Amino acid sequence: MKIAIRYFTKSKKGNTAKLAGAVSAALGTEALDVSHDLAEKADRLFLINAMYAADIDKEVVRFLERNKDMIGEIVNMNTSASGASTLKAVKKAADALGIAVNEKEFHCAASWIFINKGLPSEDDFKRAGNFAVGLAG
Ligand SMILES: Cc1cc2nc3c(=O)[nH]c(=O)nc-3n(C[C@H](O)[C@H](O)[C@H](O)COP(=O)(O)O)c2cc1C
Repeated sequence: MKIAIRYFTKSKKGNTAKLAGAVSAALGTEALDVSHDLAEKADRLFLINAMYAADIDKEVVRFLERNKDMIGEIVNMNTSASGASTLKAVKKAADALGIAVNEKEFHCAASWIFINKGLPSEDDFKRAGNFAVGLAG
């Protein structure tokens, strides 16, 4: 199975970039930000994103629009201050483009301004890596 990793990170903390780094190390696959279109078809795309104003960033949606024909299935992984999932927002965008989304997902709480200092934790990074390995085969 061909896999790819794309992420979008916006805050200065770079929480999602860090999560993508952990997934990249676990899978032995390069993690690139969503400004990089897919060069070849990915059977499974690990889309690592974050929640902003209860939604996903438009850059993530634009990436999906540009690459819809290159994606077999999205696996959603995200950080958020509340610990909530972005799966619904990702699914909404993916459904509109005819891209499948795996029901399995990973999300964890992350720091924002003064809250959740130190999150994601090392344990979160480990769990994220294990989750991705479980879906990469
Ligand atoms: C502009 C902005 C809006 C945010 N809105 C939400 C939100 O609605 N719900 C939530 O749980 N977290 C929210 N957060 C927190 C982020 O989801 C969290 O800090 C995330 O880890 C940021 O990832 P990043 O560092 O990769 O950009 C927001 C953060 C920013 C910067």
